[in-house]
Amino acid sequence: MQRAFLRLISALALTWVCSSPAPVVAQTPAEDHAANIGMILHMHRMRAFHDVDTGIQSTPPVIGQNTTDEDPTGTISTFQPGGNTHTAGNPFFQNLGTNGRTCFTCHQPATGWGVSAQSVQDRFNASSGADPIFRLVDGATCPTDDVSSLDKKSQAYSLLLSKGLIRIGLPIPAGAEFKVSVISDPYNCSTNPATGLISPTNATSGIVSIYRRPLPSTNLGFLDPEDPTNVTGIMWDGREPSLESQANDATMGHAQANTPLSDAQQQEIVNFETGLFTAQNFDNAAKNLHADGATGGPVDLQGQLADFFPGINDPFSPTFNPNVFNLYQAWSNLPGKGGINVDRESVARGETVFNTTKINITGVGGLNDMTGFCGTCHDDPNVGNHSKKLPLNIGIADANPPALDVSELPLFMLCGVVVTDPGKALISGKCADVGKFKGPILRGLAARAPYFHNGSAATLMGVVNFYDQRFSIGFTDQQKQDLVNFLNTL
Ligand code: HEC
Ligand code: HEC
Repeated sequence: MQRAFLRLISALALTWVCSSPAPVVAQTPAEDHAANIGMILHMHRMRAFHDVDTGIQSTPPVIGQNTTDEDPTGTISTFQPGGNTHTAGNPFFQNLGTNGRTCFTCHQPATGWGVSAQSVQDRFNASSGADPIFRLVDGATCPTDDVSSLDKKSQAYSLLLSKGLIRIGLPIPAGAEFKVSVISDPYNCSTNPATGLISPTNATSGIVSIYRRPLPSTNLGFLDPEDPTNVTGIMWDGREPSLESQANDATMGHAQANTPLSDAQQQEIVNFETGLFTAQNFDNAAKNLHADGATGGPVDLQGQLADFFPGINDPFSPTFNPNVFNLYQAWSNLPGKGGINVDRESVARGETVFNTTKINITGVGGLNDMTGFCGTCHDDPNVGNHSKKLPLNIGIADANPPALDVSELPLFMLCGVVVTDPGKALISGKCADVGKFKGPILRGLAARAPYFHNGSAATLMGVVNFYDQRFSIGFTDQQKQDLVNFLNTL
């Protein structure tokens, strides 16, 4: 009775703060629908906290058919088989919300169509924290943060600056198997009833604030957006049923738009995103990544799409081939032992380490214990995501994951475990899904540090050290360096 009353009150409050009718979200399975609506309503409610900056995202006039930018280990390139994109009039680049943001605010080609922590710091310094990525709704650690001075701003946006993390506010699903208790809340966001949960202990409703890296809005043809069952999973927790609904929810949420996108606008965004192919194209040590028989770079990656289908190279099928990457095998036996061939052979060896190192996979939620490979979870040939939906808990959201830095993140207890992010459990309401996330596409990595959903690995060496310790692999230093050199060429 009392809860029904509270719900009525909050519905009335929402109508009042959202200057638009209830957001329209594409038809989805009930659980996804509820999570996304809850998220959008929360973000509209956060308008109660006012931004001090009002600038609008700036955009280059054209994204060329071939776009190349420098990154820390070489250059990253995007190839658009359909030709140049003129950004004026393309909704991916249009200011369709109320806070000056566009999709391009968090998805830029120089950083593999995501953001790197370094790129965020550069934007903060260049704009004195006024760039549209710095908005209270989800750029700040909490919308209640004080942004009245440059110093205060750098505190408010500390997670975005240090790790490229965006706040995601998701409701506890109705009928969840668990209650959520806040163990540590360095930003007072989940514990404050104005922005978070109804209570800090045993909460059954309200918003959980977690902090996640933008996923790249490129190479999306390999997520199979045409498949109505969304076999590969969109978003870290797989909560979006289609790229169309994702585009709409991002506009309503991150950009705090009043009006949903039209079907035509959703389609234009999806056409643009699925027409992008991004990969490292040049490495400072190994040089041209498609020379001497190698097939790195985005043009060859685009060619890979013709072979792709959801569930390709399923690790549970007898035809599973753990040699997931075959871009650099031609470099494994180059003539002459000097110059760039030394670096090219290291890349080829790193590819072999990825393909052939046996890993004792134990205690991974979502997978039975087995002897596997990197490719057991990253099975999509030459792409590296899982080729069908398979949310896994490899322990990145644990309170103390080996070799990773999660010290700045909040901690929650649910289902008897402590995590920095409940993962898919916040969508399904199930204890079995705590800490489960999707394995993302592994192309364009060099341009978009840090890694994992919570940015807990500052470098690719950090990623490799995590796997080495988590699964007691026993890599030699040479194997680690080769593997890192290889991952940097993807
Ligand atoms: C304020 C930053 C921000 C803005 C603006 C933004 N995104 Fe994102 N995007 C993110 C974050 C963070 C995630 C991951 C969130 C999660 O998984 O919970 C993400 C995820 C995605 C994904 C999922 C990719 C995958 O592999 O599953 C796509 C696609 C995407 N965004 C497209 C868009 C589009 C289209 C727009 C504009 C309508 C947009 N984004 C605006 C931050 C942003
Ligand atoms: C048991 C499954 C599994 C195995 C084995 C595995 N991965 Fe992963 N990988 C994942 C999942 C799941 C994620 C996303 C985890 C997260 O962020 O919560 C991931 C993320 C990554 C990322 C980060 C990508 C990004 O965009 O942040 C890299 C890089 C990576 N894996 C490389 C490897 C390498 C190299 C190996 C072998 C040494 C390997 N993985 C073995 C499941 C696996």
